[in-house]
Amino acid sequence: MTILVTGGAGYIGSHYVRLLERKGIDFVIVDNFSTGHKKFVQNKKFYELDLKDFDEIREKLRDLDITSIVHFAGLSIVSDSQKMEKEYYENNVLASKNLAIFAVEKEIRKFIFSSSASVYGIPEQIPIKETHPTRPINNYGKNKLEVENMLKELSMEYPLDVVCLRYFNAAGADEDGDIGEERNPETHLIPNIIKSVLNSNEFIVHGDTYDTDDGTCIRDYVHVNDLASAHLSSLKFLDSNKGFHIFNLGSERGFSVTEVINECQKLMKTKIKFKIGDKRDGDPDILIADNKKSVSKLNWKLEKHTLRAIISSAIDYHKNAL
Ligand SMILES: NC(=O)c1ccc[n+]([C@@H]2O[C@H](COP(=O)([O-])OP(=O)(O)OC[C@H]3O[C@@H](n4cnc5c(N)ncnc54)[C@H](O)[C@@H]3O)[C@@H](O)[C@H]2O)c1
Repeated sequence: MTILVTGGAGYIGSHYVRLLERKGIDFVIVDNFSTGHKKFVQNKKFYELDLKDFDEIREKLRDLDITSIVHFAGLSIVSDSQKMEKEYYENNVLASKNLAIFAVEKEIRKFIFSSSASVYGIPEQIPIKETHPTRPINNYGKNKLEVENMLKELSMEYPLDVVCLRYFNAAGADEDGDIGEERNPETHLIPNIIKSVLNSNEFIVHGDTYDTDDGTCIRDYVHVNDLASAHLSSLKFLDSNKGFHIFNLGSERGFSVTEVINECQKLMKTKIKFKIGDKRDGDPDILIADNKKSVSKLNWKLEKHTLRAIISSAIDYHKNAL
């Protein structure tokens, strides 16, 4: 079995690849390195290609014996998706469509898609179940929902079995310390706090008037290696469950920005300098997953990663990367 891993040079994809290596499962990576890192695919089988180019997909991947596709590739900065609507649409929706058509053509039956909690928009209930209405409030979330719907249609027409995984906030790094979260510019909370300490910069908290106990946003952080393992569980799930399926991937625990800062302070043994900045458009007060469906149906086993363990693994990565 050879798994095609798109976006394997990125943050979550590289952790999935690490898991496949540890399990001895064959894979091939495709990435255009737009946000991914060549150092994450060193000594691995990879094709540099852009999924926006259908002919290139066909040409380069035609002779491979691929049994399933795990599709991480995409652009994921919400504010950019507002400013660069067309670029995001082409990269996230049209490129995913190319890949799905290639899967149908090649009769590759299993397809796992990296979706996002952003499809829910502003939640009406917490924790959020998969049955919650989907009303995305930014182009990034709209792109994810459009791909989910496109995959659902294809799965009804062709022998294509699909799992869409709606991630909450991926965080942390592998214990080997050589792969981790690295974006430029960085938009995620934990790496931003850590980098602000390592680079002696001031950190900006985006708003402190949310409807939460301390006024800062609450998010559900899930360790990136737990996310990775859910993709293997999803492929196994498709062995006996055909058709189209959606699962949340979160920990069911929420932490506010202030709680994350406090934990970073303890672990980094330093006072974190921060300033309260403007709220970001469309940031919900609280996002917490209901993960019961993925735990029971995928048999997803989350390792016992506390917030402390998640942050600590991220600190190790950023210190190593210096
Ligand atoms: N990080 C999170 O918390 C989070 C949450 C929800 C959903 N997601 C989704 O998970 C996936 C992976 O996220 P990540 O955090 O690892 O992002 P990332 O930017 O680190 O990785 C994405 C990878 O895809 C590659 N890529 C992008 N467009 C491509 C294209 N057209 N052709 C080939 N390769 C392309 C990039 O070079 C990069 O290596 C994305 O689809 C993202 O939207 C992430």
